Amino acid sequence: MKLRSSTVLLTGASGGIGHALAREFAARGARLLLNGRDSARLGTLSVELRNGGAEVNVLPADLTGIEGIERLAHAALSGGTPDLVVHCADSFSVGCLETTSADEISRLWQTNVIAPSLLTRALLPSLRKQGRGRIVFVGSIFGSLGLPMYATYSATKFALRGLAEALRRELDGSGIGITYVAPRCSHTQLDDRRPERGPAARTDKTTRVAVRIADAIERDRRELYFGFGERCFVRLNAWFPWLVDRSLRAQTRRMRKFEPAIAGPQH
Ligand SMILES: NC(=O)c1ccc[n+]([C@@H]2O[C@H](COP(=O)([O-])OP(=O)(O)OC[C@H]3O[C@@H](n4cnc5c(N)ncnc54)[C@H](OP(=O)(O)O)[C@@H]3O)[C@@H](O)[C@H]2O)c1
Repeated sequence: MKLRSSTVLLTGASGGIGHALAREFAARGARLLLNGRDSARLGTLSVELRNGGAEVNVLPADLTGIEGIERLAHAALSGGTPDLVVHCADSFSVGCLETTSADEISRLWQTNVIAPSLLTRALLPSLRKQGRGRIVFVGSIFGSLGLPMYATYSATKFALRGLAEALRRELDGSGIGITYVAPRCSHTQLDDRRPERGPAARTDKTTRVAVRIADAIERDRRELYFGFGERCFVRLNAWFPWLVDRSLRAQTRRMRKFEPAIAGPQH
């Protein structure tokens, strides 16, 4: 699909990769519907994009509750059906499962899996009627490679990858395409909260990530994985998981330094 003159609903637009995506989509001539919770950040971004000639609407909503998701879907559909939906919002957490609070686990599942599922579900009848469109799920390399200290985040990204794969097959022949994107480390707030990077990890600039995602959309690609080393690790993990278990032992020991004493489940 071409981004020029397309209407794009983008969640996570107030975040690092979301900001870069909004700028890239605007530069390619798309109309934007920007979602996040931070209205001030979204407002500043929209002024910048409008000054550059883009058509932008800000649709702030908290995606941790059904009410926010339904409100966003309703607002997005009120001006017509979007051509492209990009699920970029996420919650992140790092630490042993035993020391992760129940609230944090729920928040991650809600933002990273339940919100994109429910928002897609709410938009699909209109997209089907339109007979064309694309839905992009921004996952992670951690969605193909379970890393110690990232159990909850990894689990949600595995689930998101499963959602994208199943939906691609479910929507076959409908005119609606699915793209699953797996970035590696980028310099954003999310990356700032990471005590140690994954195997073979290098960092991408968010602007570069955005250009590659926009190219993948315009080429109707089914998936996009970042990093040759990361892609190799994912393959190695699928074929020889015991080898990856062994190679990650040292990293797990190093990461434990960042973990407070494990004293049982927290509530
Ligand atoms: N950065 C990396 O190194 C990296 C690596 C691999 C994959 N990724 C993936 O890339 C995507 C973007 O990451 P990022 O680094 O740009 O993240 P980020 O800077 O932390 O931004 C997260 C975005 O999600 C939004 N968000 C969080 N909770 C929300 C909620 N309950 N309701 C609505 N919006 C909510 C935030 O909105 P507010 O700020 O307005 O609350 C913000 O716009 C994510 O899916 C992430 O998993 C990132």
